[in-house]
Amino acid sequence: MLVLGVESSCDETAFAVVEDGKRVLSNAIGSQIELHKRFGGVVPEIASRAHLEATVPLYEKALADAGVTIADIDLLAATQGPGLSGCLLVGLEFAKATAFSHGKPIVGVHHIAGHLYSPQLAKEKDAWGNTSEDAAFQPYLALVISGGHSSLIHVTAPTEFSILGETIDDAVGEAYDKVAKLVGLGYPGGPILDQMAADGDLNAFALPRPILDQDNYNFSFSGLKTAVARLVEQNGKMELKQTFVNDVAACFQEACIDVLLTKAKKAAENLGTKRIAFTGGVACNKGLRKAATERLPGYQLAFPLPEFCTDNAAMIAGIGYHFFENRESAGLSLNAAPSLSLT
Ligand code: KG4
Ligand code: ZN
Repeated sequence: MLVLGVESSCDETAFAVVEDGKRVLSNAIGSQIELHKRFGGVVPEIASRAHLEATVPLYEKALADAGVTIADIDLLAATQGPGLSGCLLVGLEFAKATAFSHGKPIVGVHHIAGHLYSPQLAKEKDAWGNTSEDAAFQPYLALVISGGHSSLIHVTAPTEFSILGETIDDAVGEAYDKVAKLVGLGYPGGPILDQMAADGDLNAFALPRPILDQDNYNFSFSGLKTAVARLVEQNGKMELKQTFVNDVAACFQEACIDVLLTKAKKAAENLGTKRIAFTGGVACNKGLRKAATERLPGYQLAFPLPEFCTDNAAMIAGIGYHFFENRESAGLSLNAAPSLSLT
């Protein structure tokens, strides 16, 4: 079965063709980062308009890259929520119109269910090291870390999840972006701080590990960001030397990694699972990938390709295939749900 995925919940317009929920035939992504850079964050109205402009060219690119036409597609899967309502509407209404005009079924998909599914996506092999033929689903613990989410979720079947914990304030990607702004770096801050952290001194500053001592699986990152703000203030805002910025990046990143991996390990031990997947934009972080490999020996770790970690439509097509196994086609009453709940 060929599924056309459509994603437009935030600042990436994306279309992808995925076969049988597994093999990615195309993954076309249009990022709006350049448009939002000068505002230091995503401006919803600008994002919606940019989605409108990008939609048709990316739809055509995804089909062409996969070597198929719309006639070959068996199902459309579009992100229904959560996300920015104007942005969600552009992708979802386009998907509904395409489904209606070509007589195809359609399903609405939860954006985080898509991120959770990304370890199963395969070009040659999936993030567990399986080829598309030999990959039977096995449960796993997932750390979803992005600009909007920081959650530990037990995935017991492709479409069955139990949330163990989540952030009580900022998401970890949001904290990266805010810390980058504090030290005068561009947007989005995650990839830039990741690069600078590699040259910094991990022991330069003592930063807090918020709520690490609490007996739960929640996260908190806003206090960590405030601690960095204080460091910057003490340093004197006018001259931020490169060594200072590198050291801040290294210490901030180490604090994030420490809390994320400690809580993930504790959750995995309690669940009795040896399989942990990292998904969402922050899962691209090189420092995190290295630390997880070193600090979680004996675990089977899944790090999806970066193009499947940040927002994309392959993950929407992949999970959409499984939702369609359990559901009817959604019909034209399908509507965007900016606060859609995962469970
Ligand atoms: O999953 P994503 O593309 O969009 C959301 O659903 O939020 O994640 C974007 C977030 C941004 O906050 C960005 O700074 C962060 O992921 N990010 C990173 C890295 N690459 C992207 N954070 C840390 N290290 C990275 N290498
Ligand atoms: Zn996302």
